[in-house]
Amino acid sequence: MIEVSGLKKIYRLGNVEVEALKGISISIQRGEFVGIMGPSGSGKSTLLHQMALLDMPSAGTILINTTDVSHLSDEERTNFRLMNLGYVFQDYALVSELNVQENVALPAIMQGRSLADSYAAAASVLEKVGLAGRLNHLVYELSGGEQQRVSIARALVNKPSIVLADEPCANLDTENSWIVLELFRAVNRDLGQTIVMVSHEPWHQEFFDRIIFIRDGLLDKDRMTREHKERTDEGL
Ligand SMILES: Nc1ncnc2c1ncn2[C@@H]1O[C@H](COP(=O)(O)OP(=O)(O)OP(=O)(O)O)[C@@H](O)[C@H]1O
Ligand SMILES: [Mg+2]
Repeated sequence: MIEVSGLKKIYRLGNVEVEALKGISISIQRGEFVGIMGPSGSGKSTLLHQMALLDMPSAGTILINTTDVSHLSDEERTNFRLMNLGYVFQDYALVSELNVQENVALPAIMQGRSLADSYAAAASVLEKVGLAGRLNHLVYELSGGEQQRVSIARALVNKPSIVLADEPCANLDTENSWIVLELFRAVNRDLGQTIVMVSHEPWHQEFFDRIIFIRDGLLDKDRMTREHKERTDEGL
């Protein structure tokens, strides 16, 4: 569960202030697949960064799984992230010196798990994303779509309850975007993970249970999608 209340973020560049978030309140339930959409510059990435504990809000609070994360120390934030959150970047952000399996094992190793356990967990999650045959490859030997699947595997390796993704399909063609969206949908349905994904592609909407529209740093619209309503009506 993510509970955002009165969230504000002001960036200061010298004398210039940019109010990127002007007081946003949203509540995301466990197991929801939420899309965040809105015009460029509306504050989508800023919102996701605050929810991912990658940045500190200027005002407001964020509760994640009942922990008030707005008041954690730096070390507590790092630990909280490692235990509860997975993050997928638009540009994959993989370590080019490490092979695929090492990249994915990294968050498990950082969590204090043994090397053997971390590599086994990495191999298992890489199999889930269809990359069992690529464990020893270096990142540059993979296509963009494959690199993004490695980055998703890395986000999933510690079995976080929440996965946050900022435009994960922005650098992918339609076919690879579709594969990534299907993968998120499968993870969401099979493992019950909460997924919050920023997107600006209208065709992605059909994958989301719910879409939160942001405009000028404020909540614009918040609606359930038709597909989600049908599934809920069927009791799924
Ligand atoms: N580090 C920063 N320093 C100063 N201003 C920033 C910073 N990051 C974002 N901004 C400003 O905050 C506003 C919101 O930016 P944000 O990146 O959240 O938008 P976005 O909705 O993700 O846009 P896009 O769809 O283009 O990715 C913009 O006006 C942007 O210029
Ligand atoms: Mg953005």
